[in-house]
Amino acid sequence: MLTWDEEVKPTPPTQLNSGFIQSREVSHSPLSQAPSEISPAVTRTLDDGAARPAAGSVAARVVQATAHRRVNAADKRIINGQTDVNQLVPFKYKWAWEKYLATCANHWMPQEVNMNRDIALWKDPNGLTEDERRIIKRNLGFFVTADSLAANNIVLGTYRHITAPECRQFLLRQAFEEAIHTHAYQYIVESLGLDEAEIFNAYNEVQSIRDKDQFLIPFIEAIMDPNFHTGTPQNDQTLLKSLIVFACLMEGLFFYVGFTQILALGRQNKMTGAAEQYQYILRDESMHCNFGIDLINQLKLENPHLWTADFKAEIKELFQKAVELEYKYAEDTMPRGVLGMNASMFKGYLRYIANRRATQIGLEALFPNEENPFPWMSEMIDLKKERNFFETRVIEYQSGGALSWD
Ligand SMILES: [Fe+2]
Ligand SMILES: [Fe+2]
Repeated sequence: MLTWDEEVKPTPPTQLNSGFIQSREVSHSPLSQAPSEISPAVTRTLDDGAARPAAGSVAARVVQATAHRRVNAADKRIINGQTDVNQLVPFKYKWAWEKYLATCANHWMPQEVNMNRDIALWKDPNGLTEDERRIIKRNLGFFVTADSLAANNIVLGTYRHITAPECRQFLLRQAFEEAIHTHAYQYIVESLGLDEAEIFNAYNEVQSIRDKDQFLIPFIEAIMDPNFHTGTPQNDQTLLKSLIVFACLMEGLFFYVGFTQILALGRQNKMTGAAEQYQYILRDESMHCNFGIDLINQLKLENPHLWTADFKAEIKELFQKAVELEYKYAEDTMPRGVLGMNASMFKGYLRYIANRRATQIGLEALFPNEENPFPWMSEMIDLKKERNFFETRVIEYQSGGALSWD
């Protein structure tokens, strides 16, 4: 049975080299790369005396058909792997496959949520305070483009650098979920009749949102660059940094002021449709964050030379900067106390979350002794305590399998 806690469960080191066959055979399919990408193999000699393409080179992903060997799970690697990425099995990274199955079991669509009460409340001149309306607009202003950034980062950046097919499978599902999230935010904007241009341009026009996105964009662009390839310690660190920024700081930190605010509205019986959507999104994001952390830890386990003192210092600085930016966003969205919260409560909350993310990837806590001022948020992540929404949906989607598609 899968759990939704935030425990990190990377494959133990003892499993790294276990498999059915202990040989170091390399297996590739010519189909794994477009013909135009195939170049003469650059080889180097490993300690077993076998010639191998240089790690990270295009040739490293392709071997002549004559060298075909069946995939040995023990040979799989998170990055710079030499095994055929088209063959999902034999499994090595079962945690990734299990998370993929868990995300599929939680499938939902935005239009399944009734927005009528939200629409009535939004249109009632006395339904919400100006501060509450500001929170909603700023919130959507960040999220309507944030999940597109996340999707682009996966599809155009991360995916091609990950050589473990189980992890690619999760990333494909994650990319679709980011599309569902963008759909959900768009659906809320449309339902409430908000000014689409104002909301969708907020990431250009609202400083606190722009600053967060500008912090993220260099880490997307670095790995999207077609000339960027893993295979050197420096480039592998660039990818690792990008994974950390996305899992720990974007999905794991930059989303949390916004989620807390909308869920706080829902707890006061306001904007309950939007709050329900955010609850499902929070649950998805919690899984994305946990998968990302597992991926980071597995990558570290396989490449311990990347985790240098300088690298750790750089990551800590990024954590500090992200906390600062998210706190500025909290101040901008809540210039006064609202919904029983104020910006300064978020200082503690963000530090608490940052500590948790840091320790999850093997760094010490950056802000010792911070406590969670919003313990109810942890309960929101575990929806089963509140309703059986996903269980009913699973049954409905399974029944869809009986439909005729011709
Ligand atoms: Fe998302
Ligand atoms: Fe996500």
